[in-house]
Amino acid sequence: MAEHATAYDDPGTPDEISRRTFLARATVTLGGLVGVTLAVSLIGSLVPTEEVLSGTKRWAALEPKEFTALQAGGSSAPMKLYFTHKAQDGYLETESREYVWGLRLTPAEQQQLNADRPDLFAAKGGDVHYPVVSMGFVIFSPICPHLGCRYNWDDGAGKFICPCHGSVYDKLGKHVSGPAPRGLDPLPLREQSGTAEITWIQYETAVSDRIVIAYS
Ligand code: FES
Repeated sequence: MAEHATAYDDPGTPDEISRRTFLARATVTLGGLVGVTLAVSLIGSLVPTEEVLSGTKRWAALEPKEFTALQAGGSSAPMKLYFTHKAQDGYLETESREYVWGLRLTPAEQQQLNADRPDLFAAKGGDVHYPVVSMGFVIFSPICPHLGCRYNWDDGAGKFICPCHGSVYDKLGKHVSGPAPRGLDPLPLREQSGTAEITWIQYETAVSDRIVIAYS
């Protein structure tokens, strides 16, 4: 009868067994530590830091047609102002035509804005750290702070109204009614070499504080 090799069936001496057990446990523990470290750094990389956020900050030129009309003051109602929105999608840069709402303020309206919307003025403990009114204009993000739908300006009502859940804002962006937790979000505006530019900011929705989640 043929003999079978038995070397691999030999469990070894007690010393060899405990060494193998130790090595096996050490390997599992080390693997676990590496896994946890990778997971922590991965999660960390998903949370946008101030540096990451700042790196994506950019200015976009408003198309001149509507902004010139707003400057001319033909209408005191808010107007849609268009621009080319550039965003980073992984390694790709995408472009789309976007709009913001622009409003030309009278001196009385500027005073009213200060009085009605203390949340916008850092000097009063607000959370917007750029000029809310620039060159006599205020610019609003078109995103509803409730859950992110697009609201519209209703000329008849003289209000901004969101079609999704009925949040209503007055002309100065103050929350009037509906489920939205705060008023409309202003965006930075500046003039650069004769061109009006805005910065697009995405704020967290459904919270009362204004929390930046992205600049593109
Ligand atoms: S998303 Fe505008 S009211 Fe809900």
